[in-house]
Amino acid sequence: MAKKLSIKTYGCQMNLYDSARMADVLAPLGYRLVDGPEDADMVILNTCHIREKAAEKVFSELGRLKGLKAAKSGGDMIIAVAGCVAQAEGAEILRRAPFVDIVFGPQTYHRLPEMVARAVRAGSEPGPGRGILDTDFPVEPKFDHLPEELAAGLEVQGTSRHLSAVLTVQEGCDKFCTFCVVPYTRGAEYSRPVDAVVAEARRLAAAGAREITLVGQNVNAYHGEAPSGGGEWGLGRLIGGLAKIDELDRIRYTTSHPRDMDDALIAAHREVAKLMPFLHLPVQSGSDRVLQAMNRGYSVGDYRRVVDRLRAARPDIALSSDFIVGFPGERDADFKETLTLVREVGFAQAYSFKYSPRPGTPGATFDDQVPDAAKAERLAALQALLDEQQAAFNQAAVGRTMAVLLAHRGRRPGQLVGRSPYMQSVHLMAPESLLGAIVEARITAGRANSLAGTLARGAARAATSPAADGTMERAFA
Ligand code: 5AD
Ligand code: SF4
Repeated sequence: MAKKLSIKTYGCQMNLYDSARMADVLAPLGYRLVDGPEDADMVILNTCHIREKAAEKVFSELGRLKGLKAAKSGGDMIIAVAGCVAQAEGAEILRRAPFVDIVFGPQTYHRLPEMVARAVRAGSEPGPGRGILDTDFPVEPKFDHLPEELAAGLEVQGTSRHLSAVLTVQEGCDKFCTFCVVPYTRGAEYSRPVDAVVAEARRLAAAGAREITLVGQNVNAYHGEAPSGGGEWGLGRLIGGLAKIDELDRIRYTTSHPRDMDDALIAAHREVAKLMPFLHLPVQSGSDRVLQAMNRGYSVGDYRRVVDRLRAARPDIALSSDFIVGFPGERDADFKETLTLVREVGFAQAYSFKYSPRPGTPGATFDDQVPDAAKAERLAALQALLDEQQAAFNQAAVGRTMAVLLAHRGRRPGQLVGRSPYMQSVHLMAPESLLGAIVEARITAGRANSLAGTLARGAARAATSPAADGTMERAFA
């Protein structure tokens, strides 16, 4: 009999990929994904450690699961904690939540079948030392041990994985930004060989993926072994290779580091029509002093030059970014420089955070921590500006025709929701038979977080250019 599996994913796109692959690993054991944890036989929380708030969520969710497990007849619910909190605080989780059966890190989930078998043998009676902990960094990468078959019915961010897929090509980070836990939770940088990536992309495309997002903590540091072993390929070349897969219409990549935007990758934005004109390029701060304290390895001027080169290569490219306010030592004048940079560059979308000191990172030990009140004030000012820019960007789409990948049903009867080349959600009325198609949509309204449109032409379109009217101009003059 099929067993019910619930996976809740926090954090970044890497975790989305890992969750999908966990489902693949567990499918041969009879586990099928269900929506919520209520009646599940196994629940996995795939966690994020990047900020304190993200990590705290795990313990509150575990409290809820404890009740569900106790209420389930026979108490047969395997509770597992995966991801970066598991990696960083595995033993602590088992101590604080002894009803947790399995704790495993991002590099060991290919061993889930053994862990599940051991958990079943151990039974569901809580007891000290009963929980299984596997947070190794194995010498052989997990990718070599993951199954080729893809689990059925999987959704990633509300969209069938069989339509818009994430594919991890690189993991880990050697850059050691002083605020960041990633080098500690995900380990050293590793790039998958080109052949392995291409083979997986082909499987995803054969399963129906039309859009693929290449992911990595530092995805543009990618340097995978070339096919037939001759040297290495960078990300630009990899994208060129993947564009040859006919069934794939759209390629994206995230998250990039400004220091690794090399010539070949910038050229790919000019040359590869399938590469979408939208790039997440975190800058973190607009102050050289702060960037240096963060050990980012670039100046504001360097970032501006990268943006200029990208825009020269692909004039319709839109940018998204991450910002941290209140990093130790950040003064009002530094923060004002961040606002200036935002005004000058113009972002279609962005994430901004108050600095959160993370145990084990250098930033947490810096003397001049910024009081929370100042962080809150700066965050509000920055978010107001970014929201304004996002609204202007969405408004600029009104009256244009865009290629929209129809991804899932909307809330209203007859409504479908799709994705624009710029990752905007587009709501429109369309027959269900068009789910999975790329259609031309005329944009009729731009809202804070989404667009509304109408079908410009009913027929599905196999074309790859992002907009029917050529390109989308920048919303920012
Ligand atoms: N505090 C606040 N934000 C952080 N980020 C990473 N580490 C921290 C931290 N300690 C943000 C960065 C990064 C994004 C994923 O999360 O902006 O780009
Ligand atoms: Fe969070 Fe970083 Fe882990 Fe992704 S890699 S889940 S952002 S801590």
